[in-house]
Amino acid sequence: MESFLIKGGVPLHGEVEISGSKNAALPIMAATLLTDEPCIIRHVPDLSDTRFMAQILASLGAEVKFRNGTLTIRARKLKGYADYKLVRKMRGSICIMGPLLGRLRQARVSLPGGCIIGARPINLHLKGFAALGAKIKIEGGYVDATAKKLAGTTMFLGGRAGSTVLGTANVMMTATLADGVTVIESAACEPEVVDLAAFLKAMGAKISGAGSPTITITGVKKLHSAEHEVIPDRIEAATFAIAAAATDGEITLKNARADHLRAVIDKLTEANVSVKRHGDDLMVRRKGRLKSVDVTTLPHSGFPTDVQAQMMALLTLAPGISIITERIFEARFMHVSELARLGADIEIEGPSAIVKGGKPLSGAPVMASDLRASAALVIAGLAAQGTTQVNRIYHLDRGYEQMDVKLRKLGARIKRVEEK
Ligand code: EPZ
Repeated sequence: MESFLIKGGVPLHGEVEISGSKNAALPIMAATLLTDEPCIIRHVPDLSDTRFMAQILASLGAEVKFRNGTLTIRARKLKGYADYKLVRKMRGSICIMGPLLGRLRQARVSLPGGCIIGARPINLHLKGFAALGAKIKIEGGYVDATAKKLAGTTMFLGGRAGSTVLGTANVMMTATLADGVTVIESAACEPEVVDLAAFLKAMGAKISGAGSPTITITGVKKLHSAEHEVIPDRIEAATFAIAAAATDGEITLKNARADHLRAVIDKLTEANVSVKRHGDDLMVRRKGRLKSVDVTTLPHSGFPTDVQAQMMALLTLAPGISIITERIFEARFMHVSELARLGADIEIEGPSAIVKGGKPLSGAPVMASDLRASAALVIAGLAAQGTTQVNRIYHLDRGYEQMDVKLRKLGARIKRVEEK
């Protein structure tokens, strides 16, 4: 297994190109199953998750070509069964269910199972499919959805933590080919849902309200080929902005959408970090001593849960007490014990982590556990004095395109090594 070896203490300087959004690309890739015509998707990040989704689509019978960030997919013939050994490796693959149900009127997908940050149930996805007329059966770790016909209806998709991103995506995709009008209330408002809706509309779907809590879809008989460019990855942009602040550097994020990052920019500004917009770029630099701030993760347009761990790494450096409350996932503090190994002083109280910041961090070997926790450990290692080895960085490669290459271009002393 590979590790990152990081010699900390170097302020980051220069420009970094933000890749296409993983969390927009995955449902958009799944949406190509809704038509038998070829689709072209550009600005797709080359990650283990996107390569994996390409494998899953091919296993369903689609022709898939992935070259230099451009995907060409044609699901001419299709089987409606996705194998457990494929689906269990990436929870995000549950978003093939909606298109399979919409196109074939049946889908058999293995229950994705939980992951290290939480149980990750799909009850709201299934509630939406059933509302459209699907019969749902769960047996032997698989979920079967079959529908003689799919009829549009009004449904409420809010759950224990508010809206569901992939639940909204799944049901919206099925509804594009249902008879009549579907209204999704308490829909997710994330930019990735808006990007998926844009792709579906390019395919001929009739959708309004994407980005708001109420999305209306009027079913059509058939969808056709489309071309689309995926939005920039707001979580990657936030990760690099925080790395610049943590190392007291100054960087430019090329092709970053400030309008997708308002809550993150607001919190960084409160922490005494300057984030200035220049067209499609963002200039980030620390304005002196960091200030402690309180952060609560919420559905969009609140502070994104996918930036919680990275923000915690930064706030270990801010003198004073910062309280970070995780309202989306029940177990997203895996990074706390690893940050403590670098000298951070953090106490967990239920859904909150109390960060006593201001002491410098010192390098140590640490273990990555999930995608964003790993990013937090890299940020902490870049800021720490001495050497940090972040092990099991396959977690990072799932969601960050060439993170070490991009960081080296910004002056970081980081290299990929075989874990000893
Ligand atoms: C998407 O996951 C993202 N993944 C996650 O990013 C992100 O953290 C999450 O949205 C929240 O923003 C992709 O887009 C591939 P949810 P998703 O359904 O859609 C509960 C990353 O690091 N819930 O919005 O699976 C659920 O337990 C990943 O890139 C139900 O109760 O998340 C959670 O508490 C991690 N029932 C909350 O809703 C359901 O049927 C939000 O989950 C579905 C969800």
